[in-house]
Parts: sequence; structure tokens; C-alpha cells
Amino acid sequence: MIPKAYDNGDNNSIESTAGKIKRMVLSKEGRTKFNILPDSEFYAYPKFVTHVDDRFISNLTNLYRKCLRPEFEILDLMSSWVSHLPQEVKYKRVVGHGLNAQELAKNPRLDYFFVKDLNKDQKLEFENCSFDAVLCTVSVQYLQQPEKVFAEVFRVLKPGGVFIVSFSNRLFYEKAINAWRDSTGYGRVQLVVQYFQCVEGFTQSEVIRRLPSGADLENKSPLSSIMQLIGLLSASSDPFYAVVAYRNFKPV
Ligand SMILES: C[S@@+](CC[C@H](N)C(=O)[O-])C[C@H]1O[C@@H](n2cnc3c(N)ncnc32)[C@H](O)[C@@H]1O
Repeated sequence: MIPKAYDNGDNNSIESTAGKIKRMVLSKEGRTKFNILPDSEFYAYPKFVTHVDDRFISNLTNLYRKCLRPEFEILDLMSSWVSHLPQEVKYKRVVGHGLNAQELAKNPRLDYFFVKDLNKDQKLEFENCSFDAVLCTVSVQYLQQPEKVFAEVFRVLKPGGVFIVSFSNRLFYEKAINAWRDSTGYGRVQLVVQYFQCVEGFTQSEVIRRLPSGADLENKSPLSSIMQLIGLLSASSDPFYAVVAYRNFKPV
């Protein structure tokens, strides 16, 4: 990404490093998946399912109520046929992105959508500073080049714009990256925090956790997650995690 020059007020032009990737977070191994077929094949058929439970969705919709305003232009990255935006609010524009056109065509909140495999190409075909908010719901675990995607999100966000990344402990195990699969709730939060930190110019991220009471989900092992998935352990409600940061107003 080419940093833009800006004036520091003393007529001296300073190279801005905003939006630059400072360091890579993941190792080569951390980016690997069990299922190495192209993601577009995995999502070739529409999955008209809801990926998280009502309590998770209610937490997320409430967070959107707090962070998003009607005049916002919003990009919903890695979206599907459902929207978690509050029904009572009409936003200026909602653009959806995902891997399955049939799912996206059914999403009632989208004014426009496009299909793109972000593990093949991270470039978003929008001008700099196009959106007030970017959302990524229960999907960040599938990104193999998260540093480049977060840098692109920074580029398309307006100064002061917000990026809301939310997730739970559910996943398509074979399609999640190694670094996510083998981690705990705490570790996954730290991973997303680092994705934000590795791009110059995001504010310090805020972490929101809403965990089912009594459950030690933060340190749950990958094995117990698998046992829960196949029904050998009883499931409580889905833990809710969100990591939120803003594109800094000040050039860095
Ligand atoms: C678990 S679904 C979540 C969908 C939606 N955000 C929601 O809350 O229901 C994961 C989504 O990630 C998207 N996805 C997975 N791999 C992707 C990739 N390589 N490039 C772009 N999108 C991808 C798919 O379109 C899929 O809809």
C-alpha cells in the first residue's frame, strides 16, 4: 500500500504510514487449513442456516445499535443470507460480500453485493475512505491473509470509521486456519487484537465478551469443542466475542 503524504502544518510534507502492515501476525503454518480445496468450492452450494444462536445475535445487534448510525455506509464482509443489523434502522447503504451469490441475493438488508475469495485476492474494489463501518461476523477464522484484509479494511474506511469483528466458538473446523483451530477463546481474542495492531493507524481495540454464566469457555480445549460439536458434551449458549477498533482521525 502506498502511504500518502500529508502536511504537518509547518509546510513540511511528511510521509504517512497509515494503513501499512507493520508486521505479519501469522506463521506459514498458522495459515494452513485441513481442507485445502478452494473456499469457493466449499461455499458453492448455499447454506441457508443460522451460524449462531439467538443470544449471540441479540448481543451483536445491540452492539450494532450502539456503534452504527442511520447515515452510515456499511460494508458487511463475509456475509450470507442473514443480516444481524437492527431491523428498525435504515442505513444509507449496506454493501455485502461473501462467497455464495444465492445466499447474498436472499439477504434483505443488502443494497448491493459482490462475491470474492479473500484468500485468493484481498483487494477490495472500492475507493479509499468509502465506508463508515465494516462488519465481519463469525468468519474471521477463515482468513488466511488477515493482515492484508485488515489493511484493506483500513483503506476503505473513512477516518473515524469502525471495524467490528465478532465471533463465537463455532466453526467449520476443516476450513478454519490452524492458528484459530488450535486456540482457546482467550487466544482467539488476542489473535484478532493483533490483526488490528499489525496495521498502522487503527485505534487500540476494545474487546467485548459475553460468556454464558458458569462456563469456562475461555480456556476450553479444541478437543472439548469437537466433542460438543458431535454431541458428546452438552452445549450451553454460544459465547459472544467482539473486537472493535476505529480508523484513527490523525495521520500516523
Ligand atoms: C459462518 S459463515 C458467516 C456468514 C455471516 N457473516 C453470518 O453472520 O451469518 C462464513 C462466511 O464466510 C465467508 N467466507 C468463507 N471463506 C471465505 C473466503 N475465502 N473469502 C470470502 N469469504 C469467505 C462465506 O461467504 C460464509 O458466508
